[in-house]
Amino acid sequence: MTSQPRNFLEIDDLTPAELVDVLRLSMSGQLPPLLEGRSCALVFEKPSARTRHSVEMAVVQLRGHPLVIRPEEIQLGVRESIADIARTFGCYHSVVGLRVFSHQMLAEFAKASPVPVVNLLSDQAHPLQALADLLTLAQEWKLTPADMPAGFAGRKVAYIGAANNVARSLALGCAMMGVEFCISCPPAYGFKSEDIALSVLACQSDPPACYSETDPAVAVKGADAVYTDVWASMGEEDEAAQRREDFAGYTVTTEFMWQAAPEAIFLHCLPAHRGEEVSAEVLEGPRSRVWRQAENRMHTARGLLAWLMGARP
Ligand code: CP
Ligand code: NVA
Repeated sequence: MTSQPRNFLEIDDLTPAELVDVLRLSMSGQLPPLLEGRSCALVFEKPSARTRHSVEMAVVQLRGHPLVIRPEEIQLGVRESIADIARTFGCYHSVVGLRVFSHQMLAEFAKASPVPVVNLLSDQAHPLQALADLLTLAQEWKLTPADMPAGFAGRKVAYIGAANNVARSLALGCAMMGVEFCISCPPAYGFKSEDIALSVLACQSDPPACYSETDPAVAVKGADAVYTDVWASMGEEDEAAQRREDFAGYTVTTEFMWQAAPEAIFLHCLPAHRGEEVSAEVLEGPRSRVWRQAENRMHTARGLLAWLMGARP
């Protein structure tokens, strides 16, 4: 009997100890060629710059072969069922990554897949991004592999923006590492109460690990990192004009950064819209770590793939 493969659809598919192991592997420049003679299929239903390139390079660094597939080539669920494609891919590839509109579809794919499935971004979650975010925080806070997770405790991340895929995975990742997570957005754009994973996390500690604060100037107070993402995600383009109105006052500006902790850094998953969710001055300014964050996408993708292939630090 074959064992069920481990998937990475959301960051809490890992236990906190496993998440630390993935971060430790991501810090290691030298990993064995765990994908030698093997391939990784990468399906993109949406555009991507960072995710595609970082994961492709991570596969190459582990000596594997990345194979990028456009949705029209396979027509998931149209030409044949999602389960049949998952089982077919499992005949050739050691890992399958998918960037999809529907998280539900990703879950259906993973259920049928005989090999690990990695979420390259869905409407609900972006866990690969959260891995890179946590590595960037760890580096900024000068944490060694041995310092994790304890060194994360007592820090605060303020997220100014909609409770989207990036926010969800980051909130969970922060809570798993003991980092306080405060989200600030107009109430209509906050986490829904039916988002069980987050509300459970919020109840797990006192004061809660994850909470919301409508006023961004209050949310950023004392934060060690201020994070934002686009107001309208891919697939929400029709709402962009409305969201620009609704998010007035939520642009991360230099004035907001002054309210944060003295050494606070600015993070953004990118792509960024200067003048909307963040001012050009902050994005390009001395506190911005967005390029290191982008680079870390590759290191953490490599760490995760190595972990999925059985590596342990
Ligand atoms: N941050 C991120 O996932 O970027 P891409 O959409 O370019 O992959
Ligand atoms: N929330 C954004 C993230 C892009 C990396 C989106 O889903 O479009």
